[in-house]
Amino acid sequence: MNESSVDIAATAPVRKHVSMTSSFALAGANVLVAGATGGLGSRFVSQLVAAGAHVTAVGRDHGRLEALDLPAGHTLALDLRLPNACVAAVDAAAGRGPLDLVVNATGVVAFGTVADVTIDTMEELFLTNVFVPIMLSQSALPHMAPGSAIVNISGVIAEQNLPGMATYGASKAALRSFQEGFAREARRQKVRVLDTRPPHTETGLASRAIEGTAPNFAQGLDPDTVVSIILQAVTDGAKDLGSAAFASDR
Ligand SMILES: NC(=O)c1ccc[n+]([C@@H]2O[C@H](COP(=O)([O-])OP(=O)(O)OC[C@H]3O[C@@H](n4cnc5c(N)ncnc54)[C@H](OP(=O)(O)O)[C@@H]3O)[C@@H](O)[C@H]2O)c1
Repeated sequence: MNESSVDIAATAPVRKHVSMTSSFALAGANVLVAGATGGLGSRFVSQLVAAGAHVTAVGRDHGRLEALDLPAGHTLALDLRLPNACVAAVDAAAGRGPLDLVVNATGVVAFGTVADVTIDTMEELFLTNVFVPIMLSQSALPHMAPGSAIVNISGVIAEQNLPGMATYGASKAALRSFQEGFAREARRQKVRVLDTRPPHTETGLASRAIEGTAPNFAQGLDPDTVVSIILQAVTDGAKDLGSAAFASDR
């Protein structure tokens, strides 16, 4: 990986990370972004490209993939729940060399009480929010360069679940727990697994719930700021990025 430094700090405010280790450069990095068509994923793509990374972007929506304006062959439309889709996503990026960074920004949300939630919704939440990141991690690990990182976004709800979001929160707590164990396996291969837990962010996710209606959230964080904080944590070598790291940006 190219070792030149990248100044994403210019766009990111002061932050509180934990467990810093080695530094990590985004310039020249071979990066896979899953969920690249989303509110956070599309910002990851633009900030990573601006920092000089080579990005392979995966999403489902063809129009929003095209709007990312990446070079030909750097976008891939895939439903990552399907068999071998995570392998195909990883292969597309790994065809350019060992992976320096995998960012998983896929996810779905649902609202409503446990009394009302349907089995179809439970299945969809756990498939997308738990199975997909596990399958993506499993597919990526053999292709990760030493010193590389895998990033997932569980969210603040993985720290404290809420009424009306219990099933979504359970899927995110499962993701966080998965990463806790996986991180200890992956570090034997010098791969860092970074769980990130931002609070509510204005991406429009809440308005795209697969079931139910969102409560009246207070104004959320700015998506560009959230992404810059996460990328700064990546470059700083952070091993965990809890909700407190985003608190000063409210
Ligand atoms: N926004 C928040 O307040 C917040 C806070 C904490 C954590 N998070 C987490 O951050 C992540 C990104 O959230 P966001 O706000 O950016 O949501 P978003 O704008 O709705 O983006 C979700 C992304 O996931 C992709 N996706 C969903 N299902 C997929 C599938 N089966 N296969 C492939 N791609 C799939 C979507 O692709 P298409 O659109 O192309 O279908 C889209 O790119 C989620 O995991 C979310 O839970 C969000």
